[in-house]
Amino acid sequence: MKTFIITGASKGLGAAIAKGCLQTSDHCILVSRTAHPEMQRMADRSGTKLTFISLDLNETEKLPSLVNEILTAVDDTSDIYFINNAGVIEPIKPVGNLGIVNLETSMRVNFMAPIVLADEFVKQTKDWNRKKVLVNISSGAAKNPYHGWAAYCSTKAGLEMFTRVAGLEQDKTSFPTSLISFSPGVMDTEMQGTIRSADERDFADRDKFHEYKEKGILRSPEFVADKLLQLLEAEDLENGKFYDIKNLL
Ligand SMILES: NC(=O)c1ccc[n+]([C@@H]2O[C@H](COP(=O)([O-])OP(=O)(O)OC[C@H]3O[C@@H](n4cnc5c(N)ncnc54)[C@H](OP(=O)(O)O)[C@@H]3O)[C@@H](O)[C@H]2O)c1
Repeated sequence: MKTFIITGASKGLGAAIAKGCLQTSDHCILVSRTAHPEMQRMADRSGTKLTFISLDLNETEKLPSLVNEILTAVDDTSDIYFINNAGVIEPIKPVGNLGIVNLETSMRVNFMAPIVLADEFVKQTKDWNRKKVLVNISSGAAKNPYHGWAAYCSTKAGLEMFTRVAGLEQDKTSFPTSLISFSPGVMDTEMQGTIRSADERDFADRDKFHEYKEKGILRSPEFVADKLLQLLEAEDLENGKFYDIKNLL
């Protein structure tokens, strides 16, 4: 049996992964603030169990009990795939104009939430002898600086290093969780719409991202989700590794 837990499954890449999982797994547990309107119908059609949990990942103090709630719902023998996908690109502003409120949301949703969820997941499943995989959705921005993206780049870079350290540690345990980063490349999602609507003074590369859209360079989230699911299916994952979609095409 297979259970997928996906954050940010209401839109974009998370929704595309969830649609794929509804075809191939036994139970999907989806976490976001809003529900995708089609997901329950799809689950009914495929006969897959669906659990939706509405939560704002900004509220990091609620995350340990969220993991407990999720793991209580998982079947005793099921392999578990936990996809930390939810993310925010904002604030898109140069340093000096970021502001504490926007910074805190970025840090909480992109960094604190996935690492608290990973920490609790590893803790609560440390004696579970079964396949356990935790994927942190990363970005090229974890490796490369972009003008106006200080918050986003920093949170993705921090999350990548967290994944490497946790992977290294887990390799030495009796019942390890495999933790990987997955960089999905540029995709045609709402996040890209937010990027294109940024003020050029705040984001010097804005025109390049308009070009990506106009020239059809943005990949569909469904295509990317397929590649990720194939990776999880086929490969013996290297713990802590940064997997880039560019190497999976
Ligand atoms: N799009 C790209 O080109 C691109 C490139 C590289 C990496 N990525 C990464 O890929 C992942 C998915 O991005 P996307 O483009 O699919 O983004 P998206 O279309 O903007 O969707 C973001 C998802 O995150 C959820 N989310 C945002 N804030 C949340 C919060 N406070 N609490 C709970 N859920 C929250 C949203 O759900 P609700 O609004 O319902 O809460 C939504 O389901 C992100 O980690 C992103 O950094 C994207």
